[in-house]
Amino acid sequence: MDMQRIPAREGNYNLRNYDETRATFKWEDAHKYFSWDKTGKVNIAYEAIDRHAENPSTKDKVALLYSAPGREESLTFGEISAESNKFANVLRKYGVHKGDRIFLFMPRSPEFYISLFGILKTGAIAGPLFEAFMEQAVRDRLEDSEAKMLITTPDLLERVPQEELPTLEKIILVGNQEIESSKYIDFYNEMEAASSSFEIEWMDLEDGMLIHYTSGSTGKPKGVYHVHYAMIQHYVTGEWVLDLKEDDVYWCTADPGWVTGTSYGVFAPWLHGVTNVIRGGRFTPEDWYDTLEKHSVSVWYTAPTALRMLVSAGEDLVKTYDFSSLRHLLSVGEPLNPEVITWGLKAFDLRIHDTWWMTETGAQLIVNLPSEEVRPGSMGKPIPGIEATIVDNEGNEIPPNQMGNLAIRAGWPSMMRGVWNNPSKFESYFINGWYVSGDSAYRDEDGYFWFQGRLDDVINTSGERVGPFEVESKLIEHPAVAEAGVIGKPDPQRGEIIKAFITLNPGFVESSELLEDIRQFVKTELAAHAAPREIEVKDSIPKTRSGKIMRRLLKSWELGLPTGDMSTLEV
Ligand code: PRX
Repeated sequence: MDMQRIPAREGNYNLRNYDETRATFKWEDAHKYFSWDKTGKVNIAYEAIDRHAENPSTKDKVALLYSAPGREESLTFGEISAESNKFANVLRKYGVHKGDRIFLFMPRSPEFYISLFGILKTGAIAGPLFEAFMEQAVRDRLEDSEAKMLITTPDLLERVPQEELPTLEKIILVGNQEIESSKYIDFYNEMEAASSSFEIEWMDLEDGMLIHYTSGSTGKPKGVYHVHYAMIQHYVTGEWVLDLKEDDVYWCTADPGWVTGTSYGVFAPWLHGVTNVIRGGRFTPEDWYDTLEKHSVSVWYTAPTALRMLVSAGEDLVKTYDFSSLRHLLSVGEPLNPEVITWGLKAFDLRIHDTWWMTETGAQLIVNLPSEEVRPGSMGKPIPGIEATIVDNEGNEIPPNQMGNLAIRAGWPSMMRGVWNNPSKFESYFINGWYVSGDSAYRDEDGYFWFQGRLDDVINTSGERVGPFEVESKLIEHPAVAEAGVIGKPDPQRGEIIKAFITLNPGFVESSELLEDIRQFVKTELAAHAAPREIEVKDSIPKTRSGKIMRRLLKSWELGLPTGDMSTLEV
């Protein structure tokens, strides 16, 4: 065991004395980094962008280094500040005010980031949507949040069921197209005409900032609601965990449709005034290595599935690039296999630092710090300011080395402040003052946490969180499908893949064409990442007497495990 521990190297890390900081740190200590310490009012757009734009020494510093197939661009803090002011003016002109929900549905592009900050400057709540979402996924989210406006591209417009969204007043289209409806606003025309000065909306610390929809094991996706105060944790973890320094070139590979892509793809780096690389387009190992090399990336935050793909691409490929600028590597979203850490040591001569958190937690909570020993397979230890433990089903703490539910003492700055439209769901996360994560884990005697799995049926495929209920609901809309049960099936590269068990309606006969048609149906209506990679036809789907699909049993069948107590199975 000890052999596998990887000590920290010598280094000028931002957080060097974990134990001492842990003993003394209070969140209030970090208020001094922000202008609201004096004014009591806040806007994350000011702290992340305008503050650096007002400062003559950082105004012309590159904030955004964008590259995608066919487009390379860079924007300074001054430029993002001015452009997002323009966009905020456009939004105001069309009646956007504090608290309105304004959604973004487009690929990663400079316009995305300009729009996001424009929204935040008006005091509205931003809702980023993953660009791969299809009609049903888009509808669910815009409907539930009662979105007032959407910013999207002409290409994605066909996935927006406008007639079914009565609260959606306007759609801002980014791209050249003929404007045919009074509902559409042309992004570029409006930006040209807009003023680049804007009176930012000063918010209270607890005012709404962002909604990220995420999946649970039951029901539709839920709108996880975050407030401006979360920035304090984005900032502090940017300092301690990402170890950001002024001259860093930082790259987070996550899409801003997911929480990592906002908390750590936007806020943490820019709160620190660091140059942020954004890469559009799809994943290939060559493109990613090119990006690291071309921009001399120094801090890189990515995910286990991507790392495993790099491992498969082989060590020879790594050797053809120059990664001498890279000094700090991090991972999030899924269990990070020790073998990948071992590979990282060989390929980059660097440790990979796993971090654990969730959409609901808003920022990192349990991490491997650069100055601490890494125990491969462990998610690390809680950051200063965070109390983490393992609880039983009643919310009682349990001793080290016993598996239970990973829980965090409620009330940290970036914790979600609600589930949109669903207060009872929000309340259901908390017991005895603990936020209960739904992840099973244990803690060793030294305070390192070890992830074991999910306690519910939520699927984690390539780091993307998928609710089985949503997939099942979509499957049974297909004319051939009578019933469906969906599980995550372990997969060496993607962590899990989605597997569906279905029964067919009378008159339909199993064939590979039919199964492919069903798969495509989910893909085109919900999202590509939610489409089952495997579909198996059964004579019946096991259900409890109350009609609940027994996904656990399906999983046991799949894995060839003992099926345990089946007393509630419908006969
Ligand atoms: O099961 C845990 C897994 O991802 C879930 C949260 O997913 P999401 O809300 O989409 O947020 C992902 C990124 C913040 C968790 O409940 N997860 C996240 N990080 C890790 C992890 N599983 C194992 N190790 C991790 N480091």
